[in-house]
Amino acid sequence: MTEAPSRPVTFPTARRHLFDPPGEVLQWQRQGALHRMTFADGHLGWLLTGHSAARTVLADNRFSNRTELTHPPVAHPLARQENRQPLPGFFLRMDQPEHTRFRRLLTGQFTVRRMRQLEPRIEEITSDRLDAMERGDRPADLVQAFALPIPSLVICELLGVPYGDREQFQRDSAALLNLESSAEQMGAALVDLMAYMRDLVLRKRAEPADDLLGGLVAGGELDDEELTGVALLLLIAGHETTANMLALGTFALLRDPAQLALLRDDPAVAESAVEELLRYLTIIHMGPVRTALEDVELDGHLIRAGESVAFSLPAANRDPERFENPDTLDVTRPATGHLSFGHGIHQCLGQQLARAEMRIAYPALLRRFPGLRLAVPPEEVPMRSHMTIYGVHRLPVTW
Ligand code: HEM
Repeated sequence: MTEAPSRPVTFPTARRHLFDPPGEVLQWQRQGALHRMTFADGHLGWLLTGHSAARTVLADNRFSNRTELTHPPVAHPLARQENRQPLPGFFLRMDQPEHTRFRRLLTGQFTVRRMRQLEPRIEEITSDRLDAMERGDRPADLVQAFALPIPSLVICELLGVPYGDREQFQRDSAALLNLESSAEQMGAALVDLMAYMRDLVLRKRAEPADDLLGGLVAGGELDDEELTGVALLLLIAGHETTANMLALGTFALLRDPAQLALLRDDPAVAESAVEELLRYLTIIHMGPVRTALEDVELDGHLIRAGESVAFSLPAANRDPERFENPDTLDVTRPATGHLSFGHGIHQCLGQQLARAEMRIAYPALLRRFPGLRLAVPPEEVPMRSHMTIYGVHRLPVTW
């Protein structure tokens, strides 16, 4: 049996296997859900590895997600106090009741029904990308040819962001999510993106538009700063996440041909396969983080007011107390209850959109190219280990 760590741990990031969480975090999980952890700025807080405890804390409003209260689990270029000012409208980092005001305005835009209505357009976009791949060169980079453009086009159309501007915002958003960017690079990317979004908001004010951002502008409840923050959050969250699921998920399936065949050959499997890939791969791998607003007892420990708790969602999603054979990819399992979209008031606003994109895109890709395979040895695929969202930088494939 592995010893429980006797000294505070640091947030584990070194993976031994492409798709598995770092080994030690799973070992610690067997010793308990909570472990003392030293954050990147020296703060002594906690690491949370258990599924049930993670759900409990994420749903507990005695824990805050405000930027200025939370500590960074891993070194972050913008972690210095003066950089940790709240952005108006960036409601992911707000607590109730402020958060509720924004979430209420947006929930109606992201309903299951609304996303179902979007499906024909997602199918069309997917099929266009596959046509372009078929016409293009082999090998191809699946990230640039398929995984990134699909969610990017969808969120641009939904929000009302000109897709022609993508080079700029994709470059800035990549710099913003790269933990190896310098503080200057990250700061500049944020300033650029904010300026771009603010300009877009002003354009929608001048010329009313029938899209989500145009609707929020016309609704009149948010000022320009708030609209800028909302649009920024939706654009970043709306394309980087699903893009990485599409590419990493395809990589995982290519490494497991039996599971790939199940998803390719049986349309009824798509729904459970998407949930299982979300659980198995858990691309949000360095957080979230919450900070106790008062003393809270959990799992036999006292979390004191002001202490931050960093979640390992990849570990929680591999918790054997919640999932049988958690380290096995089984696209037919009813994988409900994973925490890949978070839980509680901040649970992913775009989850139905992400699900629809994945449910359509994976099977379409596998059916169009039944001979799809990696064009390089798996160990040569560059992994996004130092990005806040896990995945691959490139996925060279051929067929
Ligand atoms: C596979 C894709 C996705 C994954 C794995 C994912 C994951 C997550 C997670 C874990 C959270 C909660 C963070 C926390 O509690 O601190 C979250 C929140 C959020 N996500 Fe997603 N997301 C995905 C796709 C999307 C898409 C397509 C959108 C599109 C619009 C989106 C928009 C948001 C927003 C706005 C929030 C903040 C919600 C709030 O604070 O109330 N996400 N997401």
